[in-house]
Order: sequence, then C-alpha cells, then structure tokens
Amino acid sequence: MTITSLREAMQSLPEYAPEAVVNDHFSPQLLRALGFQPEEIHPQYNTGEGAVDKAARKTIGDDVFLNTKSNPYLLLELKGRDVNLSEGTAQYQTTVKQLKRYLLAPYCQTVQWGIITNSCHIQIFRKHGKVIYPATKCIPIDADNIDSVIASIRQKIENPAKALTVAVYNNKGGVGKTTTTVNLAAILTFLGKKVLAVDFDPNQQDLTSSLGLPLSKGSVFEALTERNVELQTTLYPYKFPLKKLKVELRFDVIPADQKLAEKSENILRNHLKQNTLYRKLEFSRQEYDYILIDAPPNWRLFSQLAVYAADVILIPTKHNNLFSLENAAMAMKKFIPEVQSQKADGSPIPLPIFFNGEKTTPPQLAVAQQEITNIIKTAKKEGFDLLSYFYPRYTNAKRDLHIHEVPSYANIASSAFSRIPAVYRDRSAHEYYKDLAQEYFLQ
Ligand SMILES: Nc1ncnc2c1ncn2[C@@H]1O[C@H](COP(=O)(O)OP(=O)(O)OP(=O)(O)O)[C@@H](O)[C@H]1O
Ligand SMILES: [Mg+2]
Repeated sequence: MTITSLREAMQSLPEYAPEAVVNDHFSPQLLRALGFQPEEIHPQYNTGEGAVDKAARKTIGDDVFLNTKSNPYLLLELKGRDVNLSEGTAQYQTTVKQLKRYLLAPYCQTVQWGIITNSCHIQIFRKHGKVIYPATKCIPIDADNIDSVIASIRQKIENPAKALTVAVYNNKGGVGKTTTTVNLAAILTFLGKKVLAVDFDPNQQDLTSSLGLPLSKGSVFEALTERNVELQTTLYPYKFPLKKLKVELRFDVIPADQKLAEKSENILRNHLKQNTLYRKLEFSRQEYDYILIDAPPNWRLFSQLAVYAADVILIPTKHNNLFSLENAAMAMKKFIPEVQSQKADGSPIPLPIFFNGEKTTPPQLAVAQQEITNIIKTAKKEGFDLLSYFYPRYTNAKRDLHIHEVPSYANIASSAFSRIPAVYRDRSAHEYYKDLAQEYFLQ
C-alpha cells in the first residue's frame, strides 16, 4: 500500500522511528501538505554552513528549485523520535541553534521560514532579514491534530507578513527608547525600507514632538476603540528632502494621542484589550517592512499593548546604570514571557540588549560585565537562560562578550530640537544607527 496522506504516514510510523525513517516516511507527506511538489524540494541542501535536511521553494516560471538550487524559501531540519523536541529541553535548544545557523548561512539569504520536527513535535520560525523569531510554539503532533496543525502552518507560509514589528522597550526611563525608535525609523527609510513608527507613549509624546508632528486629538483613541475605524486613518507622513539627490525620504507615523493620555488606566482598560494594538496594526503588516513602536518606561497598559503587538523587543540599556540592566532582565524573565503565554505563536522574543548613549571605558565595561554575570547567574537559578540576550556571540568555543554600543554623541541629543532625526543631519549619527540596523536587522 502506498501512503498518501500525512495522517496515514503519521499512523504508520514506528514508536521509536529514527531520523532515517522520519525522513523517508514522514517528511515527503509533510512537505506535500505544506504545498510543495517533489521537484520543489532539495534534500541535503548546502547552506554554506552545513547541509540542512530539506530546502524547498515553489517553481517560478521555468525556475525549478531542484534544478537551479537557487533562492530557497523554507528549510526543514528533521530529527528522529529519539531526539526530545519538547520546548526547553537541551536537545530542543541544540536543534533550534542548528536551524538558526542554517537560516543565517550564506546560501539561505532568501529563506523566510525554518521548521524543526521529529514527527512528535513541530515548530516553525520566521526569518525577517537577520531576525529569527517563533511563528508557532513547539506543538506536540499526533494523527488526530496533524492535518489541522499543518494547515495552519501552510496558511502562514503562503501569506507571510511583510513587516517585522519591533517594540522598543525598557522599564527604566531615559535609556534612549524614543531616540532609538526615531533614528532607526529614519535610517531604515534611508536604506530603502518602508517604515511605520508608532508613538505609544501618549503621556510623554516625545517621538511625535521630536519629529515636529501634530498630536492626535482623539483620533487614535477612536481608531483603537471603534470597530469600524481603521488605525490607518491616523497616519502622518514624516518627510525629509534629500536635496542633492532630489528625492524625498518619507516614513509614516502614528502620533501620540491626547485622549489616551487624559483618560485613567482603569477607564482605558474597559476600552482597550491586550491585543487591541496588535489587531489594529493588521493593515500595516503587508504594507511596511518595519513597524517600530516606542513604548513608555513602565509595565502598564501602553507598554503591555506595545509588547503584545510586537514580534521582537529591542531593549536599550546603559552600561553604567545597573537598573537599566536589571530591568532588561526583568522584561526577559517576567514581562515578555507573560505576553508570550497570551499569544498563540510564542512571540515576542527579546533581541540582545545594547548599550546606548554613554561613553564606555575598559574599567567601566568590566564593572558592567560583572553585573551582567551576576544577573545571568541569578536568572539561571530561577530557570532562565539569558546568556544569549546579553552576549549573543558567546559560545563554548569562543567566550565573546560583545555587546553592541550606540555611542554617546551630543548631536544625537540636540537634534530633537531641530525636529529632524539625527541620522539625517549628521554623518556620525548616520553611521551609528546604520551600524545598529545592520547589527540587528539587515542581512
Ligand atoms: N546616543 C545618544 N547620545 C547622546 N544623547 C542621547 C543618546 N541617546 C539618547 N540620548 C538622550 O538621552 C535622553 C533620553 O533619551 P530618550 O528620550 O530617547 O530615552 P527614553 O528611554 O525614550 O526615555 P523615557 O523613558 O523618558 O521615554 C534624551 O535627552 C536623548 O536626546
Ligand atoms: Mg521615550
């Protein structure tokens, strides 16, 4: 009997199927259920960092992936049932690391999705530029749920959001959240990306005023609370003419709203749900490359909605401010997991911290590293592995303590007065934020 359906394949797998059996008797049906024909699948695809079990891409015209091997779209890393892929196990973590290495490898620039499965669990990750984040939790699968789980994964890979949504957050005040949001929006726009910046700190309104844009007088409130009013109607373009090149740079802004600032949190909670901003940004996910949300320095309503709306969280800190480091850890251990547990897809995830806007000398750096070591040790005792969120390049082979820095620079601070992002006025500021964009987002 030839096995045609995924469900049948699942039922016929031996209880302890090793990788070769999962490869032969599960992965073909899995990839077919995900919408790929045999000639659209390449086994043992050379990523440039080792071979991934399968790569896939739909045929475009007469460009058949199996023949041209060009522009892979999805990677599949298979394990046997002897490998435990329950979320959090050591084998799960090793497998995720392996997948991430492939996703970022030289011949996988065009890849947008990565899947790990051992036929008992499955998880799919999205890749956007350099950023990899979960698009589902690691889901236990069996003959009963396999068809619906795979249908929902197929739905995702056939309709990928164009945008990466980033909330810029730290519970600590004055660490550079707003400055980062403004200048990142400006530099990504300069680099040809389509950007939406959201001022979701209505009490301070710093992002809106630093760009010289008018405040929203209730229209954002209305769009968030009325079912039939779109958030799109509240957009303001920020325009900057590049005279030499005779072009105009433009990114869109959802300004801070006065009505949101005036109402008490208790009242607002009757109108705004945790997922309100997330839902209302739906229109923008196929429109923009990046949606950047500036959040306030607390863990109250607006921050919670901003973090819920995001795929990833960018966390500015200051090397000489212990609280900014401890607050970053608090977000990673408590606030972000709280939101993850409310969302079906396991997002958002923290990006590694960076140091913003203070000069760092070697002795100061040593002090900061000591603090970070303590923070990581404490977290470990509490069951959290924060190492990669502080030291993303640290491996067993190379104890690299690299943390990205945006230097302290007077022209960054003063440019808010001119209502022009520093990156458009100043060559050094331009370079600093280009480095930030490249370190975190661009491949
Ligand atoms: N790289 C930098 N160099 C010099 N000054 C900076 C830099 N980054 C931020 N600043 C300045 O530090 C101050 C605080 O920055 P910012 O308002 O962006 O922080 P924030 O985290 O948004 O604050 P809040 O928590 O109040 O929202 C501002 O005056 C800003 O101009
Ligand atoms: Mg701010």
